[in-house]
Amino acid sequence: MANTTITVIGAGYVGLTTATLLAEAGHTTYVLDINQQRLQAIKEGRSFFFEEGINPLIKHAIDNKKLIPTDSYEDSIPHSQFVFSCVGTPDNPDGSSNLTYVFAAAEQASRLMAANSIYIQKSTVPVGTGERVKEQFAKIKKKVAYVSNPEFLREGTAITDTLWFDRIVAGGNDKKSVSKVMDLYKSVESRRAEIAKRAGIQSPKTDTKNDKGAYIITNRNSAELIKVTANAFLALKISFANSIAKLADQTGADVNEVMDAVGADRRIGRAFLNAGRGYGGGCFPKDVSGLIASAQERGVDMPIMTAATDVNETMPGYIAEKIKKALGDNLSQKRIAVLGLAFKAGTSDVRRSPGIKLANVLAKNGAKVFAYDPQANEEARKDIHRSIELCNSYEEALQDADAVLISTEWPEFAAIKIDVFKNLMRGTLVVDAVNIINKQAVEKIDLRHIGVGR
Ligand code: NAD
Ligand code: UGA
Repeated sequence: MANTTITVIGAGYVGLTTATLLAEAGHTTYVLDINQQRLQAIKEGRSFFFEEGINPLIKHAIDNKKLIPTDSYEDSIPHSQFVFSCVGTPDNPDGSSNLTYVFAAAEQASRLMAANSIYIQKSTVPVGTGERVKEQFAKIKKKVAYVSNPEFLREGTAITDTLWFDRIVAGGNDKKSVSKVMDLYKSVESRRAEIAKRAGIQSPKTDTKNDKGAYIITNRNSAELIKVTANAFLALKISFANSIAKLADQTGADVNEVMDAVGADRRIGRAFLNAGRGYGGGCFPKDVSGLIASAQERGVDMPIMTAATDVNETMPGYIAEKIKKALGDNLSQKRIAVLGLAFKAGTSDVRRSPGIKLANVLAKNGAKVFAYDPQANEEARKDIHRSIELCNSYEEALQDADAVLISTEWPEFAAIKIDVFKNLMRGTLVVDAVNIINKQAVEKIDLRHIGVGR
């Protein structure tokens, strides 16, 4: 398609990734936010969060004047043929989705949108939200096409996930607009090799015909429900694995072996069956509670998702109890190294991080915690217990520790030579809350190993 002008509202994990890739595909792309710190970082050619490959793309797109950071709706929206909404949808205290930002962005944008332009909802919203936004547009008497186009990228692999997507989903009443949105993605896909090269990332698959991601057109409500259903199912898989892990702990089975064999069945698949300290992040916890709440609103119970949440919430406490027991039930005066504060590997994001939850539980129980994360130390600072010391390396955290707890699956931690634990620590306890350490190698040199379901 010919190059066009786009505004992406919200320069967060999703908005900045989307805007950058659209700009790299040649479209003049405004990235609109109210957060001056985030805008300033983009102007300087970088992201406010750690994400592999994104900085060279931002820098290139800024230098080319294809990516334009702005806080002005007036300067961006009226010129744009496409307006993406990528604002946050956090949870309310009762677990339901807080749509304040979604409605505020739609209200502000729709007043300024050009004739025949398209409003695209990328934020994760409960099914039925598009209907409400359309009613909002109707009140303003603007004829704006509305397309629901949920996002499936993961933090840590955001660029790869967007360039080599499994599927793009778009739904709306106006088929022409849906098709134009698909064309935008095709324009990114057609330049993915060049963009990936600039980002310095490898293509995950060969570009054969069979590896092509799917373009899936649905109705608007289906598109909304597809997004939350996908996240809920992935969360369910993790809680299922954690339930089996607890049984494995009682029986001498190894959950990694169990899930390798179970996941070899192509009907089940191995992905998202890694047991450990449970899921965290800015999405699974609030998307699951949002699904439960939106179902309840319509008189539908979701006990399966309530159970997934319950299991997930038990996991940090389950692991903390194991540590306490192994250290003689009293953590005071115990030095514990916590490796991993990001909610997962590959990101600096600490939203609802299980590693932070665990570090804080240990600190509240009197342990002296020395924590380290390769990317998330700074972001974690505001959320960690005041007694926790942040370290500049895992070696520093391990120094004289009675125990080490590995709480994020960073490859850097999986690669630590087991001797290093023995040489630096004064104690012998290695707690692997993400099941990435070789248990036999730990036990071979007379260290004690605790995993989850191993
Ligand atoms: P985020 O909080 O990082 O970013 C949202 C941005 O929107 C913030 O920078 C905020 O300042 C800005 N904003 C809020 N109101 C605004 C307004 N009226 N005008 C302009 N800017 C405004 O959120 P995120 O993680 O990028 O998630 C955004 C949405 O995408 C959520 O619905 C989330 O569930 C969904 N999602 C996130 C991911 C992910 O990996 N983070 C993946 C898929 C979907
Ligand atoms: C997740 C989904 O994977 C994305 O497809 C989706 O777009 C996104 O949410 C969203 O809607 O925001 P993300 O939160 O970035 O992406 O991270 P995941 O890789 O899904 O991991 C989520 C959590 O589950 C992490 O804490 C991770 O450590 C944990 N996890 C993951 C496990 O405990 N076990 C697993 O097997 C996999």
